[in-house]
Amino acid sequence: FFNESRVLPLAEKKVVVTAGPTLERIDPVRYISNFSSGKMGFAMAEAAVEMGAKTVLISGPVSLEPPKGAELIRVESAEEMLQEVVNQYADADYVVKSAAVADYRPAVVHNQKMKKKQGASSIELERTTDILKTLGEQKTSQCLIGFAAETTDAISYGKGKLESKNLDWIIVNDVTDPGGGFGSDTNVVTLLSRSGRERRFPAMEKKKLAKQLLETIVQEGQKH
Ligand code: CTP
Ligand code: CA
Repeated sequence: FFNESRVLPLAEKKVVVTAGPTLERIDPVRYISNFSSGKMGFAMAEAAVEMGAKTVLISGPVSLEPPKGAELIRVESAEEMLQEVVNQYADADYVVKSAAVADYRPAVVHNQKMKKKQGASSIELERTTDILKTLGEQKTSQCLIGFAAETTDAISYGKGKLESKNLDWIIVNDVTDPGGGFGSDTNVVTLLSRSGRERRFPAMEKKKLAKQLLETIVQEGQKH
């Protein structure tokens, strides 16, 4: 009798994926955010489902169809994303942090629309919580996978984040690379492991790339 779950590499595993930007409110009509289509995160979640995982996708505001078979939790701000991820963390086997989390939010959120005045203006910002760093500090047996979006010195910044956030893997993305970037259906990345492995993937469709990245991570993890 054919039992498909026996052959799937992530059967019985729980994968949590975050995707998209976060949105930090200034007033009822304005916000600050990051460029992120959510495509890479949604592709990672789709790959996890295809590999047999119980998949939870926590996403900031994006306009994409959720992958069939994944549980979708929609959030808006970095703080909401933090809470939902922490709720899912204890029994997660893999956490993939593809989201482009805002590093700062307005220190004050105005209840009424701010009216424009003469001359220049400024908004005071405060830091958001580093979600991935928080997960790294609380890590028990989870495999933690981060992303790094860089415009210069991508590999060396990626290595720094791998260490400082206590990650197992980081997927480094030079957003200036013509083969990929925001909104594009393709991407060019380098996968770095904590144990020093480094593998560059050529430009390819985000869905195909997501599958190859997750397969590499799962296979390499089984070698230990
Ligand atoms: N990240 C996070 N929470 C934040 C900021 C970032 O979880 N508040 C995660 C991202 O989801 C990503 C990784 O950390 O997986 C790296 O994000 P990136 O913006 O490249 O790095 P930062 O540590 O924020 O540093 P900087 O933006 O200054 O390069
Ligand atoms: Ca950042």
